[in-house]
Amino acid sequence: MNLGPRPATRSEFLRQAQPVAVASALAGVVVPAVHAQEDNTIRVVLIGCGGRGTGAAANALSVKHGPVKLVALADVFPDHVTKTANVLKKKFGEAVDVPQDRQFIGFDAYRQAMDCLRPGDIVILATPPAFRWVQFGYAIEKGLHVFMEKPTTVDGPTTRKMLTLADEAEKKNLKTGVGLMSRHCPARQEMRKQIRDGILGDITVMRSYRMHGPIASFCSPANPKQMSDLLYQIRRFHSFLWASGGCFSDFNIHNIDECCWMKGSWPVQAQALGARHYRGDKVDQNLDTYSVEYTFDDGAKLFFFGRCIDGCYEDFSSTIYGTRGVASNTGPGQASRAQIFQGTKPAAGNLLWKSPTRVASPYQQEWDDFVDAIRQDKPYNEARMGAESSLVTSMGRMAAHTGRVITYDEMLQCPHEFAPHVDKLALDSPPPLLPDAAGRYPIPQPGIVTAREY
Ligand SMILES: NC(=O)c1ccc[n+]([C@@H]2O[C@H](COP(=O)([O-])OP(=O)(O)OC[C@H]3O[C@@H](n4cnc5c(N)ncnc54)[C@H](O)[C@@H]3O)[C@@H](O)[C@H]2O)c1
Repeated sequence: MNLGPRPATRSEFLRQAQPVAVASALAGVVVPAVHAQEDNTIRVVLIGCGGRGTGAAANALSVKHGPVKLVALADVFPDHVTKTANVLKKKFGEAVDVPQDRQFIGFDAYRQAMDCLRPGDIVILATPPAFRWVQFGYAIEKGLHVFMEKPTTVDGPTTRKMLTLADEAEKKNLKTGVGLMSRHCPARQEMRKQIRDGILGDITVMRSYRMHGPIASFCSPANPKQMSDLLYQIRRFHSFLWASGGCFSDFNIHNIDECCWMKGSWPVQAQALGARHYRGDKVDQNLDTYSVEYTFDDGAKLFFFGRCIDGCYEDFSSTIYGTRGVASNTGPGQASRAQIFQGTKPAAGNLLWKSPTRVASPYQQEWDDFVDAIRQDKPYNEARMGAESSLVTSMGRMAAHTGRVITYDEMLQCPHEFAPHVDKLALDSPPPLLPDAAGRYPIPQPGIVTAREY
């Protein structure tokens, strides 16, 4: 939607002004009317045209803070690009300007798509997380603001890379958004504010559940050889630790992150259990159940429980216990319900506060906040938080996969990089993880393989 003429913001003016040396002298100046005719459209490209990428692009195009246009798409599968282009064109019409020559395919496609942008535009990174650091690095080189999906790292080495890149992006005043959208959910923000203001007293224990049947590519049969092993692993990325951090990182980061956010700190260590039950001929690397005990510096605990088995009790909730009260959050996204109670029992008679039944979409809210920060040049740096959150998630996963206590520092310094040459992959490359003769991949063996996860 074109909101018509308005004074350019400082960041837009600096982008448009040449030479850049005038910038500091003009800080805070309202730009004269001549700039009102300039193109204040933010251009967006999408890397990774899957379910979430298409959703994020739709959120970008729905932001009401001035015109946004989608100008290029990139993916390793041509049919994904075509589908996303068609779906978005149908819904957003002229705001989707992605002719054939701006639909890019392959492992270099991210570069070609970002080359369509000018500094100050936005790139969406929505591939499996293995590729995040490669694409984030190029985005920074190009001076682009970045929205990237969670998790943003899968192991220690990629976290170190992302932390360095987060600093570089911040130095260049590039805004970074990370798809931990619960942090933008108004209900959860209000709950967190009350907790940080002390309504619960000191937090002592948190427990969080993500338990449902197998979803997405949680488990995989051996590659039926309709595509290369590399593309098969990418297509079924939740099955492979190098690509996604496995189901543990991909699914559970939301719950773990939300609790740490409420607590206001990251845990210092984790110990965990996990088991693999009904796997039949499936060859993926995931366990079916995970139970993690995270410990914070002040001794507080977060107990996390994850399960992907059909026919069992299902739960998606987090509960936070303090010395004076208890807060709970149930359901994902818009179905989320936040409540605070006095005492230790979350019962109706003890209710102190509850969120409205239906809350605004946190997926849209995170985009409204992100684009507003770009247009108004407000600080907005979620990349560091995203990397730390991904690391803490990996810490719980590695504790389960090795059977050892894993500290934050050990996870950060862990030398095992799951896919060290992911930046050099081509369509005909061998995959980072090779199957055995029966098409099986190495699975975690707690207590036996303890220095690495597999
Ligand atoms: N915030 C949320 O609630 C949420 C929800 C779903 C997914 N996600 C995250 O979004 C990311 C994508 O998940 P999804 O469910 O959309 O998966 P998906 O498989 O539907 O989409 C991923 C897309 O990336 C493409 N791709 C893979 N490697 C690529 C590469 N190197 N270059 C270009 N394209 C590549 C794939 O072909 C696919 O089209 C994951 O990190 C996932 O955790 C977040």
